[in-house]
Amino acid sequence: MTHISTHSFDQNITREGTQSLKYDGRLTTFGRDDVMPMWVADMDFAAPKAITEALQARANHPVFGYSIAPESLYEALIDWLLAKHDWQVKREWILLTPGVVPSLNLVVAALTAENSGVIVQPPVYAPFFSAVTNQNRRLIENPLVLQNDGFDNAHYEIDFSKLDASAKDAKMLLLCSPHNPVGRVWSKDELLRLLAIAKKYDLIILADEIHSDLVYANAQHQSLSHLALEAEKLSSSPTEEVHCIITAVSPSKTFNIPGLGLSALIVPNKAHRQAIQSHLNTMGVSVTNPFNLVAFEVAYREGGPWLIALMAYLQNTCNEAIAFIKMHLPTINVIRPQGTYLLWLDCRSLNLDDDALNRFFIQEAKLGLSPGAIFGCGGEGFMRMNIGSPKSHVMAALTRLKVALTTKSV
Ligand SMILES: Cc1ncc(COP(=O)(O)O)c(C=O)c1O
Repeated sequence: MTHISTHSFDQNITREGTQSLKYDGRLTTFGRDDVMPMWVADMDFAAPKAITEALQARANHPVFGYSIAPESLYEALIDWLLAKHDWQVKREWILLTPGVVPSLNLVVAALTAENSGVIVQPPVYAPFFSAVTNQNRRLIENPLVLQNDGFDNAHYEIDFSKLDASAKDAKMLLLCSPHNPVGRVWSKDELLRLLAIAKKYDLIILADEIHSDLVYANAQHQSLSHLALEAEKLSSSPTEEVHCIITAVSPSKTFNIPGLGLSALIVPNKAHRQAIQSHLNTMGVSVTNPFNLVAFEVAYREGGPWLIALMAYLQNTCNEAIAFIKMHLPTINVIRPQGTYLLWLDCRSLNLDDDALNRFFIQEAKLGLSPGAIFGCGGEGFMRMNIGSPKSHVMAALTRLKVALTTKSV
């Protein structure tokens, strides 16, 4: 059964009282519960109807025992990656994991030794740092470079010469692709340069591609692993065994089911796969449950039309938000995202330190955003705004910001 979009992303859904981190966690996070929450990366939209119906059908069976993933679930993921990203993945490459953040920690622990260098490229999703430091690995930072070509043209790039220099001392690089929080969708050219550096220094790359389905019309996500395999096929002795790219994917961001917690690692290299699997076994973690299995498979099988409608909606919200900022918030610059439902707001010309900036957003604008500083070096003076909400909500938030900026007392 295919569900063509009957979905209204404009619908306001009350999430208070649903144990929602984003809503019910406001008092703990911001010290007050009247901020509009636009922080943690889930959306305020109902998941595709096919998912809800499949979960309801499963709930009708009253026994909720231990579960195993059916082969049809792996097929759904394989079909999705081929249809959406032109990437042919083999069944045996796939390992199910309890989420992408656990996967980052797992892969770092399984494939690097204590004190090994692991490169991250800030500003980046904060668990990238802790995945390295939690495991007592050495954090090597290769900050992204902001190319400031004026309003609506500013964008981030990878510092390849610095990367080349740091890669000598590293065993692994954690790539965020597309990149949270700056919204970059890395180009084929950039990814090929990255692969060349990885090859030169024997670097393993863990590509977190959780946002790869959330890409706007002007950009095209390329799976790094797919590019690496293509490049290998062109070489004289192609072999998957030397392929050192590991990819984390999940339907959680794409279809707004992050609370259900199930993701996959795609690991073409057999030795890597075995090391990761045996590390996972030692943790005694139960990865699957009766609900996350159902949602995962149905999402990839039937969520396509919903996703097309979602991206059109987000594109429109993004355009209107940026137009509003340009017209009404002259002290704020915005980095137009190529992917993700996250807006990266450059607030540096307000001349506030990070505590004061955060206080201004919470106390005066009554907005609960993610402070840029939590994303590490280069995030200072920025705020990340989640626009995965009805457009009226996003525009109301920007109006709050406009009013607060005109009466600003800090
Ligand atoms: C880049 C990135 N990786 C991972 C996650 C979270 O993944 P999970 O909920 O599967 O642990 C997020 C959530 O915001 C993210 O932005």
